[in-house]
Amino acid sequence: MIESKLPHMGTTIFTRMSALADECNALNLSQGFPDFDAPQALLESMARHVMAGHNQYAPMAGVMRLREQLAAQLALHRHIDSDPATEITVVPGATAGIFCAVMACVRPGDEVIVFDPCYDSYQPAVELAGGRAVHVPLTPGSFALDRDRLEAALSKRTRLIMINSPHNPTGSTLTKEDLLYLEELVDRRKLLVLSDEVYEHLVFDNGIHHSALQFPGLRARSFVLFSFGKTFSVTGWKTGYCVAPEALTMEMRKVHQFVSFVAVTPVQLAVADFLQAEPDYPATLAGFYQHKRDLFCAALGNSRFKLTPSSGTYFQLLDYSAISQDPDTELCEQWTRQHGIASIPISIFYEQPPHQHFLRFCFAKSDQVLTAAAERLCEI
Ligand SMILES: Cc1ncc(COP(=O)(O)O)c(C=O)c1O
Repeated sequence: MIESKLPHMGTTIFTRMSALADECNALNLSQGFPDFDAPQALLESMARHVMAGHNQYAPMAGVMRLREQLAAQLALHRHIDSDPATEITVVPGATAGIFCAVMACVRPGDEVIVFDPCYDSYQPAVELAGGRAVHVPLTPGSFALDRDRLEAALSKRTRLIMINSPHNPTGSTLTKEDLLYLEELVDRRKLLVLSDEVYEHLVFDNGIHHSALQFPGLRARSFVLFSFGKTFSVTGWKTGYCVAPEALTMEMRKVHQFVSFVAVTPVQLAVADFLQAEPDYPATLAGFYQHKRDLFCAALGNSRFKLTPSSGTYFQLLDYSAISQDPDTELCEQWTRQHGIASIPISIFYEQPPHQHFLRFCFAKSDQVLTAAAERLCEI
């Protein structure tokens, strides 16, 4: 009936694998969501605000009390100054924020650098804005930034670089040197940056999350996206925020106000209450998830998989090359049906997948599920 604007896109892999996991009654370590609940106080606060009648539109840029708490969080955890009035916008999920930021700055003919394997919402947003995604692979194996390949991919049309650290699907993180390098690069080439930091608090082994907001040259040119879904284990609440300099924020808000206009009111009030009462809660997440990662990795000690413990996010890659040479897309379906364990193939996050054999497993699951999943994996 209409010519598709996204002819190459089907249903996302997350939807397909979760549906298959349901159908097969498999342990679902595919889609990235926790199988446990958010802190009780946050849930109760949400219910209280709904029952108190806080159910009408919030201000377009977000409830001010929440934005003030977010500015306080940035100062507390990262020593970042931000103006809640002009630089912070509450959005209905990081995905929506990414879409609005891309729409605000990418014009037809612009090129946008994305790093493969790349979160699946980036390219469609770029294409719908009329731009072209230029894919730069991360270094195979380590999934580190490859500066030579990045420089080779830049052109006069490059407008935006999209980065993601901690990185989904690989669990790698950008180093301070990477960010210093990017800071120099975007200043030299007058580029914009979209920094997807939704897993900012999930960095392990005493590692530090380096935010683009902490580097003045990046701070001046970046949209930085965060998600309450990840931080508070409420992915279904679909709320997050964008921090950007005033001039970029103004343009992003022009799009946001006509995409969704606002984010959900009681969610904003509940998160504001919770952060005010428990400002240190986000700092507990690294230890909590590191325990889960370690449990899962240790339980796989007798398996035939090769693994390097993930340094961030709640995803663990398993290298299955000692078990099979089949494509990851086939194997993840086969294992969901045969072994009752669902994962995500990482080749689908590439424009041109290299020769490698990785599946992604989400460890934001109860200890019992992780143990049961590892037992099944050890039998393969
Ligand atoms: C890298 C990355 N960015 C963005 C998102 C989306 O966040 P939200 O659910 O807040 O839209 C996700 C969710 O999985 C993600 O992994």
